[in-house]
Amino acid sequence: MKQVKFTQLKNGDEESFRFLLAHDAKYANKVGERLIELLAELDDSFSAFQVTRLEHILQTTTRAWYDGADDDWVVTALLHDIGDMHAPFNHGDYAATVLAPFVREQCTWTTRVHGDFQMIYFPDNLGVNNRARDKHAGHRYFEDCEAFCERWDQPSFDPAYQSLPLSQFEPLVLKVFAREPFDPSVIRPNAREPLMCKSMAGWRCKS
Ligand SMILES: [Fe+2]
Ligand SMILES: [Fe+2]
Repeated sequence: MKQVKFTQLKNGDEESFRFLLAHDAKYANKVGERLIELLAELDDSFSAFQVTRLEHILQTTTRAWYDGADDDWVVTALLHDIGDMHAPFNHGDYAATVLAPFVREQCTWTTRVHGDFQMIYFPDNLGVNNRARDKHAGHRYFEDCEAFCERWDQPSFDPAYQSLPLSQFEPLVLKVFAREPFDPSVIRPNAREPLMCKSMAGWRCKS
C-alpha cells in the first residue's frame, strides 16, 4: 500500500488506518531533520539587524554552548526564534509548541515568553510595552528567562562575533527530537536547571 484507499475519513477501513498510523510515525520521526532545514532557510530571511536571523540564532546558541548549558538549553537557544518567518506576531508560542514534547518545561516556558522579556531592552519612548515581562513576575522560571535573554539572546546581533556553525549543533537537534514525546522524565515539571555549568564550559572552551 502506498496511499490509503479512502477519500473521507469516515469511509476508511482498518488496513488503511494501520498504514496511515505507521506512515505518520515515520514522518514524525524526521522532525529534527526538517527543523535543521528550516533553520538554514533563516539565513535568507529579511532582517534589519546587522546579522541574518540564522546568525542571530547561532550566536545565541554559541553563547549557551560556551556557558556549559545542557542539551535542553542549547536546543532551546537554537530553536527559540524558529517562528520568526511564519509567526512574527507570536513567534515564541510557535517555537514553544515545537519544543514542548521534547525539552524540559522550564525551557518551553522560557521560549514561549522570551519576547516579553526582550522588550525590556527597548527605549521608553517608542510606544511599546517594554515592561511586558512584568506580568510574569513571581513565576518560578522568571529568572531563567531573564538570564536567557540577558546572557544569550539580546547580545547576539553582533557581526563581529565568532559563532559556531549550524553543523556543530545538528547532532544535538537530532538527539533531542529523537526522544520519546512528552516523556515525564524529560519534561520534569517545575524542575530548574542552571543555564551555566562551569566545568562543562571549561571543557567546551578547551575542545
Ligand atoms: Fe525572539
Ligand atoms: Fe532571539
